[in-house]
Amino acid sequence: MPEISIRGFTIYQGLLPVEEQSVILDAVRDIVRAAPLFRPKTAQGKQMSVQMTSAGQYGWISDRAGYRYENHHPSGIAWPHIPQSVLKIWNRVSGVCREPECCLVNFYDQDAKMGLHQDKDEADFSWPVVSVSIGDEALFRMGNKTRGGKTQSIWLRSGDVVVMGGDARLCYHGVDRVRFKSSTLLQNGGRINLTLRVVN
Ligand code: SIN
Ligand code: MN
Repeated sequence: MPEISIRGFTIYQGLLPVEEQSVILDAVRDIVRAAPLFRPKTAQGKQMSVQMTSAGQYGWISDRAGYRYENHHPSGIAWPHIPQSVLKIWNRVSGVCREPECCLVNFYDQDAKMGLHQDKDEADFSWPVVSVSIGDEALFRMGNKTRGGKTQSIWLRSGDVVVMGGDARLCYHGVDRVRFKSSTLLQNGGRINLTLRVVN
């Protein structure tokens, strides 16, 4: 499988065949039925454009109290389990034996984007973060370990998987925009991104 490395981000283009993407999409639908998507606010009170939920022992939450992991969905229910089909991807590309404790589900509709940020709410940055793209294409921007400086971007397509480990683990990254309805996987368009993280 061809893989490319940009600034320490390892990008496996087309890792998941369309049948596997459909299995993951069904699994994500099960997660969302159990733990509905919500649109979080930043600590500054600004509504995010991306809708989110999680699976696993922990889910990622953002509200006026800040960014953190919680073991319950805002409704009070426990997060559903991380699907086997998703754990399989982690086991294939992460290069580590420990399993992830959080699968953050991000849903991007037509106008959603995600500003440049670091993933740094986890206890130990030696564990990688694995990111899975399903549905519409997204312009993924990769930066540096500190804010500012030059960045590089790549279009992520359905079935692409990115590993943020080693030097890239604390690099800024974000999504500038989605090419709405560029994929036919989701009938009504949109993009799903799953990020798998070891939390503790
Ligand atoms: C994230 O950084 O949490 C999401 C990245 C993506 O949507 O590709
Ligand atoms: Mn991130």
